[in-house]
Amino acid sequence: MLKEKVNEAVKYISERISTKPQIGLILGSGLGVLADEIEEPVKVAYQDIPGFPVSTVEGHAGQLVYGSLQGVPVIAMQGRFHFYEGYPIDMVTLPVRVMKELGIETMIVTNAAGGVNQNLKPGDLMLITDHINNTGQNPLIGPNDSEVGVRFPDMSTAYDQDLRVVAKKAAEKLGLTLKDGVYVWNSGPSYETPAEVKMIRYLGGDAVGMSTVPEVIVARHAGINVLGVSCISNMAAGILDQPLSHTEVIETTEYARENFLSFIREVIFSLNRNK
Ligand code: HPA
Repeated sequence: MLKEKVNEAVKYISERISTKPQIGLILGSGLGVLADEIEEPVKVAYQDIPGFPVSTVEGHAGQLVYGSLQGVPVIAMQGRFHFYEGYPIDMVTLPVRVMKELGIETMIVTNAAGGVNQNLKPGDLMLITDHINNTGQNPLIGPNDSEVGVRFPDMSTAYDQDLRVVAKKAAEKLGLTLKDGVYVWNSGPSYETPAEVKMIRYLGGDAVGMSTVPEVIVARHAGINVLGVSCISNMAAGILDQPLSHTEVIETTEYARENFLSFIREVIFSLNRNK
């Protein structure tokens, strides 16, 4: 049972941390370094947490890091679970349910994504304003636990308006360009074909990736406020005359890393100040 898995994981983690985390961070490909900045870190490897799957993708360390960032108690997923790795969809989102039970009210979710809108360029940070689930998968399929959330959760403001304002101000303060866009979730692991990229653009997508949407659905179901940020790691297939590679994705996110790190730090700082 899902609930039992959540409870077991929560018990294991709570025995290791002192106060409840306020913000949950999900760090995407190449962006896990943010967790290295967490002060007085308590690190819990996914493989040691009862009920947790083990992450398999390169570039993901696979641990939860609890501690303080800008004076705020946070819990970060250094590496996430992707549907394309073969996990059942409810395992992909298990950590979000666990972070909710641990006490988070806000979730900052990040990813590397391919730019579909040609106004984006590799290295850009994109504030996710909305998403399109292009997979037919949904982590809430199955019995609904009404103690967690409603059967038919509203997704009209999946990406919280107030958090988006905070993010815009943080970017402005740092002199960073933060573009807006709609994130499209494709299952992967193959990248899109050029025809699929055209379709995504026609559908209203600005960037495409293989994560985030399941976690956001579960977070909204549970009443967590979400801020989503994509790091544009490449232009999606067919836009430039070159093949896509995971190496390029990692290299570009590493290059955008400093901007990303200072941006998220500033967002957390502002959230704390505004409280
Ligand atoms: N497509 C899908 N997922 C991705 C991409 C892409 O172009 N870049 C990084 N993740």
